[in-house]
Amino acid sequence: MKGLILSGGKGTRLRPLTHTGAKQLVPVANKPILWYGIESLVAAGITDIGIIINPETGAEIQDKTGDGGQFGAKITYILQTEPAGLAHAVKVAQPFLQDAPFVMYLGDNLIQDSLDSFLQRFQENRSDALIMLKSVANPSAFGVAKVMDDGQVVGLVEKPTVPPSNLALVGVYFFAPTIHKAIATIAPSPRGELEITDAIQVLIDGGQRVDACQLAGWWLDTGKKDDLLAANSIILDDLTLATNGGHVDEHSRVTGRVSIGAGSRIIHCTIRGPVVIGNDCHLEHCYIGPYSSIADRVTLVEADLEHSVVLADAKVVGVHHRIVDSLIGQRAHLTEALRRPKALRFMIGDDSQVELTP
Ligand code: G1P
Repeated sequence: MKGLILSGGKGTRLRPLTHTGAKQLVPVANKPILWYGIESLVAAGITDIGIIINPETGAEIQDKTGDGGQFGAKITYILQTEPAGLAHAVKVAQPFLQDAPFVMYLGDNLIQDSLDSFLQRFQENRSDALIMLKSVANPSAFGVAKVMDDGQVVGLVEKPTVPPSNLALVGVYFFAPTIHKAIATIAPSPRGELEITDAIQVLIDGGQRVDACQLAGWWLDTGKKDDLLAANSIILDDLTLATNGGHVDEHSRVTGRVSIGAGSRIIHCTIRGPVVIGNDCHLEHCYIGPYSSIADRVTLVEADLEHSVVLADAKVVGVHHRIVDSLIGQRAHLTEALRRPKALRFMIGDDSQVELTP
């Protein structure tokens, strides 16, 4: 059994964060989204993993993630030169996959369930494909399944205007090598991509065995800001432990599960967990409320924030308004005059969103 993680794509939904970086490296609770997928595969005993990368962000993914040693895996990087769809990515990965069955994992998806029971079912049933479904409020944004009462999948449609059900296709799929033949027969969809959904439909139409499981736990497709903040909150709830590798002065109050990285200094702050703070941060005269993730080398001075994600090397200084539900990009600077400002001065990149709420 091999693993194939798709980490190409354009990441348009998280712009401007992903103009320069890969969306799969955006951290959730200070760990790149992509790494959760790798860990989930390794936990299910799948250690021979291919990662699809693109020419724009591939080097960054490779640099950060390495050869897989840190995860107990062997990673092979596979370049997809154009974003031509999920099924196209499988085509490109064929020399790596050969005749092995494999799990395909979309690098911006996060699921709570472990893969073990699904893997077991896939192997016992000798399925050609096993797909995972989850009921969602907005099925038109996904691939959608039509399922009979006995659980049999009879049809799949990609981003339907009139969805046949509310069961969305989760971005984790199990495939037998028969999928390659199915992919060879499909044509690009209206959005110009070779859709994996269409290839699975070919299996169904050909009478091959396609099983479906409904996910019990949560599923997050982290393409958008609010999804990312939701993922951050859920992971912080599940995972954060109170640890302190830095320095907290005697004027600070730290309560709940707060993890503080090596070399970070916390001076005159109130921090209420769950919160993760990376390495080498400087926090002074701040309030940091629940569900916040602060990445490495962040400076926060006279700042007040909660339910927010601050990426590496960002600086927030003297902002005397509470910052909530926010995502602050790498190296971004936010400063305010010490007295109530008469004017606001911005330098805001393309596709940014700023809300000055009353
Ligand atoms: C892709 C699949 C879709 C699936 C979704 C899950 O969509 O095409 O069927 O439901 O991932 O994240 P995309 O992210 O390419 O829009």
